[in-house]
Amino acid sequence: MTTRIFAIETSCDETAAAVVADGRDLLSNQVASQIEIHRRFGGIYPEVASRQHVLAIQTVVQDALAEADLSWIGQADLLAVTHGPGLAGSLLVGVNMAKGLALASGRPLIPVNHLEGHVYSNWIRVDGRTAEDLFPTVVLIVSGGHTELVLMEGHCRYRCLGSTLDDAAGEAFDKVARLLGLGFPGGPAIQQAGESGDPQRFPLPRPLMQAQEHRFNFSFSGLKTAVLHLARRLEQEGLDPREPRLAADIAASFQAAVAEVLVAKTMDAARAFRARQICICGGVSANRVLRSLAHAQAQEMGLPLHIPPLFLCTDNAAMIAAAAHYRATYTEILDTVDGMAMDIHANLPLA
Ligand code: KG4
Ligand code: ZN
Repeated sequence: MTTRIFAIETSCDETAAAVVADGRDLLSNQVASQIEIHRRFGGIYPEVASRQHVLAIQTVVQDALAEADLSWIGQADLLAVTHGPGLAGSLLVGVNMAKGLALASGRPLIPVNHLEGHVYSNWIRVDGRTAEDLFPTVVLIVSGGHTELVLMEGHCRYRCLGSTLDDAAGEAFDKVARLLGLGFPGGPAIQQAGESGDPQRFPLPRPLMQAQEHRFNFSFSGLKTAVLHLARRLEQEGLDPREPRLAADIAASFQAAVAEVLVAKTMDAARAFRARQICICGGVSANRVLRSLAHAQAQEMGLPLHIPPLFLCTDNAAMIAAAAHYRATYTEILDTVDGMAMDIHANLPLA
């Protein structure tokens, strides 16, 4: 029998709802992005984000039900919602809506960790492709708020190997893009600018590559500062780092440094823990340079690598429904959870 899970995600700046069957098959996937609203400010304003969720959520929920051919919420078997980590005011909007729907339908409501959602974006089947149940799997989660290297020992069983000591990778993309006048969000802007650039023109640092005590940790704030110093030096030489050709070379050099560090540490962890598979997920995993470098190195090592298609890399509710499926299947959550008593946790860790 098919189990249909309806999920809501509002942890940051996307209002999202989706229905997923058996944790794998997408029945609907609605995402209302706030990017255009935040672009004006050059970043995300938490209060603006939560108000926008309030305005958008009802339509997003209705559209997700309609797209999945459900005429009312009671036709879903289980409900799920992101309860952390994320912006408190944003999380509250999704959690309150989910509680209302659980009350109306009488269905159990499962709280989902946003990071576990990113992990399970790998297990959603698109064009017949999905991650396999091969453990241990090394997972790299790279998003706007997180950079975590995780050893997945089985479904819903994680060991954190390392994380960033300062900025998240996505945050570094966003800050460097601002510095180069490339706009928000920075990841796609840097990627686009870097496409015509020379990644070897400016040798930038590869932070913590040689530090044994930080073998699986990351640091991106020094790299961001190195780009700032490079821009100042160029200005002193009478050059404008925002001039398109120069900005392209800086963007390409920065992107190469980030991708190299992320991929090298992920492969090192896969080797050290004898991983049988590698997964990469989160907004930054949409990056083309990162994807092709990871695929090349995984192939060299003879290891299966899975990265979700682009629309599942950035925030969405399908991944929350998928994670809820694995929680319901592999843990005791359905016997213990009281969805109506759920609180939000802005700093919720994965494990
Ligand atoms: O996972 P996500 O949608 O939200 C969080 O959970 O944070 O990730 C958003 C981050 C932003 O920092 C954005 O700049 C970055 O993902 N991003 C990218 C690309 N697309 C989005 N970074 C590099 N290259 C991209 N193509
Ligand atoms: Zn995310």
